[in-house]
Order: sequence, then structure tokens, then C-alpha cells
Amino acid sequence: MVTPGTLIKASFDAGKEFFRAPAEDKERLPYKAPVMVPIRSIGPSHGERIEKHLLALDAQDRYLRFGYAASDEQIQRYVSGLNYERDDIFGIYNRKLELIAMAHLALSIDPELKSCAEFGVSVLKHARGRGYGARLFDRAVIHARNEGVSMMFIHALSENTAMLNIARKAGAVIERDGSESEAYLKLPPADLDSRMTEMLEEQIAQTDYRLKVQAKQFWDLLGIVQEVRRGVRDSRDRM
Ligand SMILES: CC(C)(COP(=O)(O)OP(=O)(O)OC[C@H]1O[C@@H](n2cnc3c(N)ncnc32)[C@H](O)[C@@H]1OP(=O)(O)O)[C@@H](O)C(=O)NCCC(=O)NCCS
Repeated sequence: MVTPGTLIKASFDAGKEFFRAPAEDKERLPYKAPVMVPIRSIGPSHGERIEKHLLALDAQDRYLRFGYAASDEQIQRYVSGLNYERDDIFGIYNRKLELIAMAHLALSIDPELKSCAEFGVSVLKHARGRGYGARLFDRAVIHARNEGVSMMFIHALSENTAMLNIARKAGAVIERDGSESEAYLKLPPADLDSRMTEMLEEQIAQTDYRLKVQAKQFWDLLGIVQEVRRGVRDSRDRM
């Protein structure tokens, strides 16, 4: 479990990375990189990025994520139907501001089951195995506790070892019914630690995102300046 202390340390460490030029993630991150990664909650202004993330999943991943091989249209309908007021979406961005991992915590719409929520997650293929799925799960658990949720459900196909591993490690009970499995995790009530952790984590993630935006703007601008320079040099050479 992430504590406020590790979050503060992470915020200092994160700052060192920002102003390096973006490169391919896999070049920079070894397979088992540290899993201390800023996760921010996402609002409706990020709908396009959510859609891009989900559309990038191949048929097998869509099947694992939604329980059926969702078509592009079904994904677009899912994204436009997201209820940001009721539910929570969490995301991990890379330095190119691409959403490489996201989770959807859907709170129950049934007033009788107000204390239940369902968790769904996806991580882009190139970013898997770094602990992002597990971290998004932890983040959703903290938030769910702070929202008064006492039971979190995960619907997964029985073949989905990675998802079931994440749930099992967090202490969830897993009930297998043939090709499908239901996992449920009983959550303790919110306390000072859960509230502080979420508050700090959200603040760090917002700062991280703002820095990424600035760094991207800087590198985009530098790219334009270099292109103009190249153009001037080429036309001078042609004279
Ligand atoms: C499930 C998913 C989110 C996992 O994301 P991830 O970031 O790769 O997961 P993590 O790195 O946090 O790994 C979680 C655990 O699963 C294990 N794992 C990861 N990939 C695995 C694989 N292909 N096979 C077996 N175990 C795997 C990890 O070793 C880790 O276990 P450990 O802590 O005991 O080492 C990702 O594979 C995915 O997006 N799949 C498609 C969508 C999906 O299945 N969503 C879940 C249903 S809602």
C-alpha cells in the first residue's frame, strides 16, 4: 500500500525526469521499473484521450476488458456514456501526454447497493508488466474507501491471469464460474491515512501532469524552431 511518505518522496523523484526529450517509453523504462507513478483522476475534457486509449486495444484486449470483443462504435458509445459525476476514471500519462493506462471505478446505480463499485482497467501493451495495473487498482481502492464503498467487484475472464493476480494480491475473494470469474474485495472504512494518501496522490499527479504539459509544449516549440532553422539553411545552401 502506498503511504503519504512514499508519495512525497515520489514527487521529488518525479521532477528530475520532466525536461528530458520524449523518447520511446520502452527505451527508458526497464521491464520492472519502479511502480511509483502519478495517477490522476480524469474529467470529461479527456474524453478524446480515453477513446484513443481504448481504441488502441486489440480485439483480444477488448474481449478481456469488456467481456466481449467491443467494436470501435461500441467503444465510442461506452466513452460518450461515461458518467464523470458518479464514476471515477483514473489515468497514467506518459511524457507525450498519451493515456497509457486507465481505470474506471463505476459506482452502483442501484440505491440499495450504494456501497458497491465495479473496477475495470486497461494498460497499453507496451506499458504492461510495470505494475501500472496494480497501482491503478490501489488508487481505485483508496478512492472507493473514501467514497464510502465497502465492496469492490471485478469481473474477469478466468484466463485473465494478470487481472486475477492483481485482485488476489489485494485480498479479493475469487469465484470461478467456468470461463468467467467474479472477484470481490471487502474494503475497510475510510480513515485519516486513506484521505491523506488520496489527497497527496491527487496533488502530485496534477503537478506531474502540468509539468508534462509544459515540457511537451517546450519540446514542440523547439521542434518548430529547429524545422525553421533547417528550412532557412536548406534554402541558403540551394542559393
Ligand atoms: C490486466 C492488465 C490491466 C494488467 O496490467 P499490468 O500493468 O500489466 O499489470 P501489473 O504489471 O500491475 O501486474 C499485475 C500482476 O499480474 C502479473 N502479470 C502481468 N502480466 C501477466 C501475464 N501476461 N500473465 C500472467 N501474469 C501476469 C504480474 O506479474 C503481476 O503479478 P505480481 O505482482 O505477482 O508480479 C493488462 O494486462 C491489460 O490491460 N489487459 C487487457 C484488459 C484487461 O484484461 N482488463 C482487466 C479486466 S477489467
